[in-house]
Amino acid sequence: MPVDIEKTKEEILRLKEERKAVILSHNYQREEVQDIADFVGDSLELSRNAATMDCEVIVFCGVDFMAESASILSPEKTVLLSEMDASCPMAEMIQVSMPRSVRRVFAGYEVQPTFVFPHEFTLRDIKAKYPGVPVVAYVNTTAEVKAESDICCTSANVVKVIESLPDERVICIPDRNLSMWAAKNTKKQIIAWDGFCHVHDRVTKDNILTARKEHPHALLMAHPECRPEVLELADHVTSTSGMLRFAKASGAKEFIVGTEVGIMHRLGKENPDKVFYPLRKDMICPNMKKTTLNSILRELKEMKNVIKVPEEIRLPAKRALDRMLEIK
Ligand code: 13P
Ligand code: SF4
Repeated sequence: MPVDIEKTKEEILRLKEERKAVILSHNYQREEVQDIADFVGDSLELSRNAATMDCEVIVFCGVDFMAESASILSPEKTVLLSEMDASCPMAEMIQVSMPRSVRRVFAGYEVQPTFVFPHEFTLRDIKAKYPGVPVVAYVNTTAEVKAESDICCTSANVVKVIESLPDERVICIPDRNLSMWAAKNTKKQIIAWDGFCHVHDRVTKDNILTARKEHPHALLMAHPECRPEVLELADHVTSTSGMLRFAKASGAKEFIVGTEVGIMHRLGKENPDKVFYPLRKDMICPNMKKTTLNSILRELKEMKNVIKVPEEIRLPAKRALDRMLEIK
C-alpha cells in the first residue's frame, strides 16, 4: 500500500473521531471507500442506519438522493455528500411539475394492468389523472418527488410496500422495470412511469444467454432495475444486499452477478470459497465511482457539501420515508 494512501486513511480516521462522524457507503462504491466505511449497504439499510446512527456528522458515499434521504430522516445531523455532483440520472428523470409551455396535451389513456406513463408526464399529471390512487416512490427520486408521494420503497421492499396499502391500484414511480417486476409479484394494478437506470436497463437477454453458456454451473442474480425479459431468466431477483444474503446462504459455488460491479467486492470478501462473475463488465455507475478516499478526507476537513432539505419539503418527504421504514 503506497504511503500516501495509508496517510490519507489515517487522516480520515483521525478526523472522523474529531468530528464524531460516521461514513456510510453504498454497495456500489469503490473498494477502498467501502473498506473505510462504518457501514456498507443497500438503499434500505442505508436509510435505516442514517435514521438511527449515533453521530453528529454523516459522510455519505453514494449518490445525492441517498444523502438527501439521510438528511430528511436526521435533520439534526450534518449530512455531507462525498462528491456534490454524484447524482442518479434515473432520480432526475421524473419531475413534480413543469412549466405548461413544455408540457404536451394530456392524452386520455386507458388503464392497462401495467400501464407505463411516458416521460413528458409529470408526477402531478399522473396524480390528476388518478385522483386518490396512492403514489409509491422509489427512493431513487428527489426530495420534492418524495414529498408529493404517499410512501417510498426500495428494490428490497417494493412488493411489501405495495401490499401494505389498502388500495387495489397504485402509482409506481419512476423505474418502469422495478414497477413491472412488482406488478408480476402482486395482484394489485400498477400504474408505472417510463424511467430507467442506464446501468441496468442496458442488459439484454443475449447477455444472459452468453453468461449462462460461459458459466453453466453458476446461479444468476439480477437487480429488479433490469428489464423484464432479463429478470425472467434469473435464478434470483433482489436488491444489492439481497444478493449478498442469497450468495451466503446458497449451497452453490458460482454466481453470475446482474448489477453494478461494485458489489463484487463484498461478495468476494464475504464468500472467499465462492466465485462471482459480472453479468457484464461494463455495468458501472459513473456517479457511484466519483467518490474516492480523497473526497472523504476533503469533506471531513472542509465540510462543504452539506445536504439540507427545506422544511416544507422535508416534512412531507419524511412522512413517505417513515411510512416505508415502519414496514418490517
Ligand atoms: P439497492 O437499493 O439495491 O442497493 O439499489 C440502489 C441502486 O441505485 C440500484 O441501482
Ligand atoms: Fe442510479 Fe442506476 Fe447509478 Fe443506481 S446504478 S445510482 S439507479 S444510475
